[in-house]
Amino acid sequence: MLDTIRDLEQEALAALDGAADADAVHAVVSGLLGKKGRLQGVLRQIGTLPKDERAEVGRLANVAKRAVEEAARKRLDAFQAAREADLGETEWVDATLPGACRGGGSFHPISQMCREVEDIFLGMGFDLADGPWVEDEWHNFDALNIPADHPARDLQDTFWMEDSNVLRTHTSPVQLRVMKAGRLPIRVVCIGRVFRNEATDATHEHTFHQVEGLLVDREVSVAHMLYVMRSLLQELFGKDIEVRLRPAYFPFVEPGFEMDMRWRGAWLELVGCGLVHPNVLRAGGIEPDVYSGFAFGFGIDRLVMLRYGLDDIRHFMGGDLRFLRQFTRGVEL
Ligand code: DAH
Repeated sequence: MLDTIRDLEQEALAALDGAADADAVHAVVSGLLGKKGRLQGVLRQIGTLPKDERAEVGRLANVAKRAVEEAARKRLDAFQAAREADLGETEWVDATLPGACRGGGSFHPISQMCREVEDIFLGMGFDLADGPWVEDEWHNFDALNIPADHPARDLQDTFWMEDSNVLRTHTSPVQLRVMKAGRLPIRVVCIGRVFRNEATDATHEHTFHQVEGLLVDREVSVAHMLYVMRSLLQELFGKDIEVRLRPAYFPFVEPGFEMDMRWRGAWLELVGCGLVHPNVLRAGGIEPDVYSGFAFGFGIDRLVMLRYGLDDIRHFMGGDLRFLRQFTRGVEL
């Protein structure tokens, strides 16, 4: 039995020497020392030996066990060291590679245009302003020189809330919020959603997007306004774009204008603008004898339709991914 144990030990040590990897080492160890291992098999027969031989067999079995365990540990350490030694070769990562990209998403064409317009105005030194979608009557109408009995209220079909608030029909009420904040001079744009109670068709949607601009300072003139408006359209549609100003009526400006742009041979109305009406300045807590300003407003949806030659505004809110996937230009998500 002593010889058998020595043979098993030698056999195991030789197998460990030849083991190709950590798994092979574990297999050798459990094949010898595991519950069903060959050494256990031998020791199970220890009861058949005369008593005085048993101690020696036990001792030798322990020696064999320790020798094999020790050899196995050394092999495992060697494998580990070898793996770590060439880690730089086998498991290196190029941390400068772009990350895994899920792809597929992109910004809505309206959002893309909003950002573009935002960038242009930020570049001209304007700040961004914001206001609530649910607006009170004073901000949406009265303070903008549109009193309750004024026919101009009918120009905009309004969603009225039960508490007499409205879904803002334009971004112009943000003008008042900025003026009331009390910091002068003012140079802001607000880009956001507006809502009209319209029968929808190819050019009318109940929810759309406007840009509102307001500049208030001393001695502001139509020339300043014209410069800013023209710069915007040139940035968006090219330096050689042709524009013109036409007188127009908006209650919150005096004089009021519409700016048209020449597009494929026709004049298109694009921007409402004018010098801020003294009543509006006063409502905003600004002294019209000291300060003057210009304001302007235009639709984002319209610009996107022009740029891509779209014929129906209802695509924007339609939620059809086949439509939206055509506009992956711009910043990917
Ligand atoms: N609020 C107007 C509208 O929704 C657009 C507009 C026109 C805004 C002239 C202005 C402006 O600030 O001066 O149709």
